[in-house]
Amino acid sequence: MAEMDVFQAIHTARALRRLKPDPVPDELIAKIVDAGVRAPTGSNLQNWRFIVVKDAERRRQIGEIYRASMQIAARAYLNRKPPAHMTRERQQKMMSGAMYLAEHFGEVPVQILAWLQMTADVEHPNLPAEQMPIFLRLMGGSIFPAVQNMIVACAALGLGTVLTTVLAYKEDEVRKLLNAPDDMRLFATLPIGYPMAGYGHGPVRRLPLSDVTYLDSYGNHWPGK
Ligand SMILES: Cc1cc2nc3c(=O)[nH]c(=O)nc-3n(C[C@H](O)[C@H](O)[C@H](O)COP(=O)(O)O)c2cc1C
Repeated sequence: MAEMDVFQAIHTARALRRLKPDPVPDELIAKIVDAGVRAPTGSNLQNWRFIVVKDAERRRQIGEIYRASMQIAARAYLNRKPPAHMTRERQQKMMSGAMYLAEHFGEVPVQILAWLQMTADVEHPNLPAEQMPIFLRLMGGSIFPAVQNMIVACAALGLGTVLTTVLAYKEDEVRKLLNAPDDMRLFATLPIGYPMAGYGHGPVRRLPLSDVTYLDSYGNHWPGK
C-alpha cells in the first residue's frame, strides 16, 4: 500500500474502537513504535518505555483490567453534560464506542502501553515547591507526542487505534502483570488492529480554527474558518 501524505493521515486518524482480531505484522508494529520515538522528550531524556502486548493470554488479562478501569471512568463521566459543540446523541455514540472497546479490549491483536520511566531525579527535580504542580502538569509532554505520532502512523498504515488513558487508574495491577519496575508511570494505551467494516478511517471533525485560535491577543479570533 502506498503510504499517505502526513496531512491526510492526520485528517483521517479518528478514534477507532471497533477493531478486528486479525494479527498485525511485526514489521508494522515496529514501524509504529519507531514513529513514536521520533517525537521529542523533555531534556531529550528518551525515558519513554513501550510495552507491546501480543500474547493472547496477556491481552486478555490487560482486557480485564481495562474493563475495570473503564467502570471507574464511566462512573465519573457518564452523566457529564456534553461540551457545547457536541449533541447528546453524539456523546452517547462516543460512550457506546468506548464501552464496546472496554468489552473487547482483550481481543484487540496489539496493545501498546506507553510509559515514562521516572527515576528519582526525574520525578523530583530540583524545583521550588510552588513549581511542582506545574511540573506535574507538564510531565505528560514527554509521552503524548510519541503517542500521537503512533496514532498518525497507524492511520498511514491502514490500522485503527484510539488514545486511551483509563488503564492508568489500575497502574499497579498493570505494572505487576507486565513486570514493570516501580518507577514506571503509565500514561496511555493504544489498542491497535484493522478496523471493522463500516468503522474505518474518515474525516476528523473539529471546531473551526477561528473558534479556538487567536491572533496576537486572546479574543482576537483568527480570521476565516
Ligand atoms: C487524553 C485522552 C484520553 C482519552 N481516553 C480515552 C479512553 O480512556 N477511552 C476511549 O475509548 N477513548 C479515549 N480517548 C479518545 C477520545 O474520546 C477521542 O479522541 C475523541 O472523542 C475524539 O475522537 P475523534 O478523533 O474520533 O473525533 C481519549 C482521548 C484523549 C485525548
